[in-house]
Amino acid sequence: MVNTEILIIKMKDIRKIYKMGKEEVEVLKGINLEVKKGEFIAIMGPSGAGKSTLMNIMGCLDRPTSGYYELDGVDVTKLSDNELSKIRNRKIGFVFQSFHLIPWASAVENVLLPLVYRNGITKGDVEKAVHLLERLGLKDRLNFKPSELSGGQQQRIAIARALIVDPALILADEPTGNLDSKAGREVMEIFTELNKEGRTIVVNTHDPEVSSYAQRIKILKDGIFVE
Ligand SMILES: Nc1ncnc2c1ncn2[C@@H]1O[C@H](COP(=O)(O)OP(=O)(O)O)[C@@H](O)[C@H]1O
Ligand SMILES: [Mg+2]
Repeated sequence: MVNTEILIIKMKDIRKIYKMGKEEVEVLKGINLEVKKGEFIAIMGPSGAGKSTLMNIMGCLDRPTSGYYELDGVDVTKLSDNELSKIRNRKIGFVFQSFHLIPWASAVENVLLPLVYRNGITKGDVEKAVHLLERLGLKDRLNFKPSELSGGQQQRIAIARALIVDPALILADEPTGNLDSKAGREVMEIFTELNKEGRTIVVNTHDPEVSSYAQRIKILKDGIFVE
């Protein structure tokens, strides 16, 4: 039988220890997680639970202290920093609470940013960026700078930027945390739509309304998943 359930994320006993002077703090205490291609999951938990730490490891922005992590079939724990950043750039689309847009760049330029680290920008890339922004309701804002846009609009630019590389995985860390409830719902509806098209999405949140959009919810407390 053909295995149609492809795992994008496979984590086994992931631990993260921060050293603060002489003291060691274990922030992740043995995370086991499997996410299948096409899933939409929410990781919920109070502030300080370790959600961002876990997501940074998922997105190859950081490494675990120990444990096994396979991203889209690749054992990333064995990669060099250079290989890790290549994989991150190719496979991951990030959306952050505070948008992380470049203030002096236009909406289109911000969306193109992940491609600058690749082979340079083609005409087709620009067309794709414009198309993504149009799709996300920013047709009339293509050349606006972030400061000229609302929080919801800025987050939609960030989502377009995440999509420009056709990532295997979209990671969103408290994506509605800086938005009013209407803009927050709009952002979550965009994620829902992207998921229906087959995109794999992991969202961190402490907001039950946000997690209600996901197909599956994992609760993180004090560095470990609880039932
Ligand atoms: N770079 C770091 N050095 C030391 N401690 C950290 C670092 N990053 C996070 N922590 C600690 O790890 C814990 C979990 O943080 P975080 O992953 O940001 O939680 P959450 O996103 O769920 O609020 C917190 O106690 C935080 O202070
Ligand atoms: Mg956090």
